[in-house]
Amino acid sequence: MGVPAGKLGKTVIGAEELAARVQALGRQITEDYHDRQPLLVGVLKGAFIFMSDLGREINRPVEFDFMAVSSYGDSTESSGVVRIVKDLETDIRDRDVILVEDIVDSGLTLRYLRQLLEDRGPTSLEVCALLVREGARSDDVKYVGFPIPPDFVVGYGLDVAQHYRELDSIRVFESAE
Ligand code: IMP
Ligand code: MG
Repeated sequence: MGVPAGKLGKTVIGAEELAARVQALGRQITEDYHDRQPLLVGVLKGAFIFMSDLGREINRPVEFDFMAVSSYGDSTESSGVVRIVKDLETDIRDRDVILVEDIVDSGLTLRYLRQLLEDRGPTSLEVCALLVREGARSDDVKYVGFPIPPDFVVGYGLDVAQHYRELDSIRVFESAE
């Protein structure tokens, strides 16, 4: 339960910069979905703050649902095989779904989730990720907040061992190990 060994490093994206980018993404989604009512599907827990802000910047009726997933095996290395810990409550058949992620790192989690949701027959499925790691396979991420360098980051929903999600900016976490 303790705070993980290490310390917070530099701020990579400040609160105002986050707010401005989320507002712009919301505006873009509002335009793209002007004749539709998107269902935002957030991947818990990392996406909850981003999705909350994003939803309020979309000037359309939106619905919210959540999935929780956990990686099999070593949690710091994405294997791409994820276990569904909490599934959606909404039937997404014939819905316009936007999958909302905190960060696309290797892209393996996203690839798995995309396939899983595609198989349920939505009308459309797009991805909105706050952060995309530079060099990640991200051609299928339509809405990108920020590209991000390789450093491990926390804040605005992102954690290290469940800590620092509450920070209002994105900061580097410098592990003591
Ligand atoms: P992927 O399958 O490698 O794309 O893993 C994506 C997941 O790894 C994200 O949803 C995060 O939960 C986690 N993750 C990857 N990089 C970071 C980071 O820098 N900070 C916090 N979580 C991260
Ligand atoms: Mg995650």
